[in-house]
Amino acid sequence: MRIGLITGGGDCAGLNAAIRSVVKHAVGAYGHSVIGFRNGWKGVAEGDIVPLTRQHIRGVLPLGGTLLGTARYHPHEANGLDAVQTTLEAERIDALICIGGDGTLHAASKVAERGINVIGIPKTIDNDVAGTDASIGFHTAVHVATEAIDRLHTTAESHNRVMVVEVMGRHAGWIAVNAGIAGGAELVLAPESPFDMDKVESFLRHRHRAHASFSIVVVAEGAAPKAGTSMQFEVELGRYGEIVAGTTGGRVASEIASRTGFDTRVTVLGHIQRGGTPLPADRILGSRFGHAAVEALKTGRSDVMTALRGERVELVPLAEVAGQVKYVPADLLAVVDALA
Ligand code: F6P
Repeated sequence: MRIGLITGGGDCAGLNAAIRSVVKHAVGAYGHSVIGFRNGWKGVAEGDIVPLTRQHIRGVLPLGGTLLGTARYHPHEANGLDAVQTTLEAERIDALICIGGDGTLHAASKVAERGINVIGIPKTIDNDVAGTDASIGFHTAVHVATEAIDRLHTTAESHNRVMVVEVMGRHAGWIAVNAGIAGGAELVLAPESPFDMDKVESFLRHRHRAHASFSIVVVAEGAAPKAGTSMQFEVELGRYGEIVAGTTGGRVASEIASRTGFDTRVTVLGHIQRGGTPLPADRILGSRFGHAAVEALKTGRSDVMTALRGERVELVPLAEVAGQVKYVPADLLAVVDALA
């Protein structure tokens, strides 16, 4: 069997572990050949191939990023499905394994509709892919954000400041909530619960009067004010690396400073959460998903995604997860509130 392999969408830690696992298992156990395409679906549309043998994956397990490169290109939105099909036929690809977030997996389900064998593997630091308990990259991002919060704690306390830290999370607040709990943040603003700045202000005033002279406020990039409350703004997404002044964290920080007069600073973690060495949890998840994808092909499955369900890796239909967002559940949000 000739297996094609891509990584699409934003990069994250643990992608190379998944690539390595696919190659080692497909070649080692079944004698398949694996062909990579550079830069996600774009490389498939353009026929930009790279051979993937055991030699190509040597030493990549602890490396961040993706040795295949990635891009935000979705063939079904860019009139690229014919080009994708042409390349796959020309390269005699029997099945394509697509490692990606919602956009990449949605494209995979569109490609599968053309009768092409496709297996998805979920990755995103945002952890918002539906149907799986975790996606590759999430644990490392939470670790990075938690470490940043720990560091901000000591400087916040030394200077008696409010430190606002913005973390990634466009549609869901998984990183904000988990790093907020692990780092002991005073407040966490997540997209799941639109905030009221009057309440943020009174919470901080009360805390600074009664118990402490510093605070850590974690803000997900997609957090938004509750409609009808005193502070309103539209969240601007997809502007990382472009306009830091227009960030959600920056807006929240300047509002806190002007309302309370507290000395306030903002830190936008941005792509630091995506880069660098993967934690063991992401190396292991990537390895398990890679193995499961190859096994899925062996048993003739297609149009499914590998998914962590409790302790087990299972297969779920791509059609059930594409276009869905997995939000932080109420019981986890309640833990944040209880610990404020
Ligand atoms: O991949 C998810 C994500 O990291 C989001 O949290 C963030 O909004 C976005 O990607 C940033 O994308 P880009 O790297 O294209 O600026």
